This record gives sequence, C-alpha cells and structure tokens, in this order.
Amino acid sequence: MDGVLRIPAVNLTETDALIADALNGLTASSKSLSPKWLYDHHGSALFEQITQLPEYYPTRTEAGILHDNAAALSGLVPANGALVELGSGASVKTRTLLNAGRHFGAYVPIDISRDFLLETAGDLRTRYPRLSIVPVVADFSAPVALPRELATTPKVGFFPGSTIGNLAPDRAQALLEGVRAWGGIGAFIVGMDMVKDTSALVAAYDDAQGVTAQFIRNILVRLNREAQANFNIDAFKYRASWNPALARIDMQLVSSHEQVVTLAGQAITFEAQEAIHVSAARKYTPDSLRNLALSAGWDVAARHTDASDRFSVAVLTPVHRP
Ligand code: TRP
Repeated sequence: MDGVLRIPAVNLTETDALIADALNGLTASSKSLSPKWLYDHHGSALFEQITQLPEYYPTRTEAGILHDNAAALSGLVPANGALVELGSGASVKTRTLLNAGRHFGAYVPIDISRDFLLETAGDLRTRYPRLSIVPVVADFSAPVALPRELATTPKVGFFPGSTIGNLAPDRAQALLEGVRAWGGIGAFIVGMDMVKDTSALVAAYDDAQGVTAQFIRNILVRLNREAQANFNIDAFKYRASWNPALARIDMQLVSSHEQVVTLAGQAITFEAQEAIHVSAARKYTPDSLRNLALSAGWDVAARHTDASDRFSVAVLTPVHRP
C-alpha cells in the first residue's frame, strides 16, 4: 500500500515542476524552456546519437585530449584520493582517467538520472573491483552535498563535455565556486569548447541528419505527453545561430505562424516567427576561460587542447592568496 502511494507522489512532483517551469518560461515576454527537460528517456538516447554525429566534433575531440593527457590528468589525484564527476551519464570518457588512475581510492559519479547512474555504478564496480564507486544522485545546477565519509578525502573534480557552457554565466560561476568550497579539493578538470569559425560551430548544433532538431523539438513532445499541452510539433522550426556578442550558440524553436497553444489549461499565444529559447552553448577563448575561472577563485594551471585548439580540457587549481 505504502509503495503504491509513494510512486505516483514522486511522479507528481516532477510533473508539477515541469509544468510550473514551462508555464513560467512560456508566459515571459521572451519565451524560454529549460534545457534540463530535454533529457527524458528518448531525449537521452537522441543526445547519445548527437555525440556520434560527424558534425559534432566536441565529444571525440575531448576524448582524444583526455586520452593524450591521461597520465598527467589522473596524476592530479593523490594516492587513495577521489575523482568526482558532475553529470557523469554513462561515464564513458571517464574510463580513460580511471584506466590511468590505478592509484585512485574512489570514483564519485554525480548525476540527476537515478536509474541510469546506479546501472552505470554497477557496471563500473565490475570493471574496477578495487576502486570504491560512490554514486550520488543530485542535480549539479544546485549545490551538491558530497557523502560525509568523503568530506576530507583529497579530491579532484571532473566536468567534461563543455556542459559548463550550457549554464548562464552566473550559474557557471556559482558551480565553480561550489566545487572550490569542497573539502580536500585539489584541482578541477573542466572541458570547455573554444570559439572557432561560425560554420563549424553552427553545423555542430544543426546537423544534416536533423538529429539535433529532433532532440530540441522532443521537449514539445514531452510537454504534450506530460504537461497536458497541445503543441503542433511541425509548426515549430528548429534554429541554431551564433551570437557573437555573447559568444554562444543559441538553440531556439521558431513558431511558423501565429498560433495558440494550451498547456495545463493555460493558453499561450505565439506570434509568427516568435522564438522559444531552449538552450545555449557558450564557447571560450583562452582569456574568457581564465576570467571565468578567476571569478570563482581558480587559476588555470594547464590547458590541454587538440592540434587545432578546437576544445580545451582546463586544469583549474585553487587560487592561494598569501
Ligand atoms: N554540452 C553539450 C554542448 O554544449 C550539450 C549539447 C550538445 C546540446 N548538443 C546540444 C544541448 C544540442 C542542447 C542541444 O555541446
């Protein structure tokens, strides 16, 4: 009886949050939806496909950098220390560091997707039987509480995928400050995509096969299913554009014509060509990367990159003021 009651209650909470967030974003003067709602089951599968696309260079470029610098990066973790990853997903890239880090005491994958995280943790326990795997279910957009037994363990943070670029600048700074405040923190390894020619950037977020468009429009499919909405999916076109002033790719859904959509009983009016902002992907220069780090109390101790400087794996260390 207890279990029967508890499961719908949990679902209700998530649905309530989705509806409240969507109504809030879609009734603002400049319409938006939060990218965190992109990652339902289908969305997560589409994102995996994106990482394999010929146009989407970041994943394979970063993997190459991790591979080429595995010894130096894993060497940042002291013997029996912990590697703590934010938004670990399937922890595929991380294995490069775990393979080179036989001296690690613990690996702490943090992810919002509980079932996925626990499945991955089980798999890692089989692969790395001597490593203590400590999964933490948490949303890294809020301050993350680490398990108490690791409070003073020397640790290195890991935040790959240029996911930091999907956060608004004040959120990115807050995340960096939050990790800086962890007990025993020695370094933070952060994957950051670099500014480059516009056509390569736009193509990475608007691929020829239309997988990214499908990924972004899936948020409307989800709202129809979970938030009692009636979006006509075909009446919203995907657009990726480079915003030079903010050094970011903007991902938007553009209403083809004037239309009214209902969501959880509330009418939402769209003008022709009105856009819903769904996600942004900030790109960095060596200077902007350093300034962001410094704003949160970190120095850039190293910046590992590929031959064309398309992507950076930055090693941040705490600024020590005398
Ligand atoms: N961190 C990834 C990036 O900024 C996330 C991402 C890739 C993404 N493609 C996307 C997010 C398309 C939203 C839409 O590159």
